[in-house]
Amino acid sequence: MDKKKLAGEQAATYIEEGMILGLGTGSTVYWTIQKLGELVKQGLKIKGIPTSKATEHLARELGIPILDISEVQEIDLTIDGADEVNPDFALIKGGGGALFREKMVASLSRRLLIVVDDSKVVSTLGKFPLPVEVVPFGWEITSRNIARLGCSPKLRLHTAGPFITDNGNYILDCYFTEIQHPELLNEQLTKIIGVVETGLFVNMAEMIIVGGNDGVSVKS
Ligand code: 5RP
Repeated sequence: MDKKKLAGEQAATYIEEGMILGLGTGSTVYWTIQKLGELVKQGLKIKGIPTSKATEHLARELGIPILDISEVQEIDLTIDGADEVNPDFALIKGGGGALFREKMVASLSRRLLIVVDDSKVVSTLGKFPLPVEVVPFGWEITSRNIARLGCSPKLRLHTAGPFITDNGNYILDCYFTEIQHPELLNEQLTKIIGVVETGLFVNMAEMIIVGGNDGVSVKS
């Protein structure tokens, strides 16, 4: 069975009546959202806060009630994917380019549950290039300043030019060899003018659901 599907569907068992739910982005949480759509059709009352336009579109198609983030003070539970997870539950996110909204939603959440397949579980972050959202104005300068932190940033491209985030910004995929100190690196990056947000999520995830060959394992 598809490992992402296993993890994504398992996460739906943590959803309870009346919750305000952060709805993550990507091909793993896709399965959670599909399950959630079924639960809503069966009468479950929840409200969802999407972390991207793509997720909002999917949720609306499935009949999941949507709230704007400005309408909530707190989110009960957010379920989202990740590109890498280390043993301290520090994450690299943003492979799909939704990192800013994902971090904003995660920051309002009482609980952040991450769904991954076992290929995402690593001992040290950094093999996956770290996505950093930057303002288009002067992005070349921002990129040079980021490179001084020991990586090689590459502008993410789409079919007809730069990839544009839901917030109208660019993504620099930053190739480090290893990220030994994710919290420090996140602080250093967010101090650089032009950086909007980084894909490093530190001290945010509470639980990781991992889909593997032998089924699902839950780390908390
Ligand atoms: C999008 C993300 C995704 O959660 C991350 O890229 C994992 O995606 P997938 O579940 O498709 O592997 O951070 O910005």
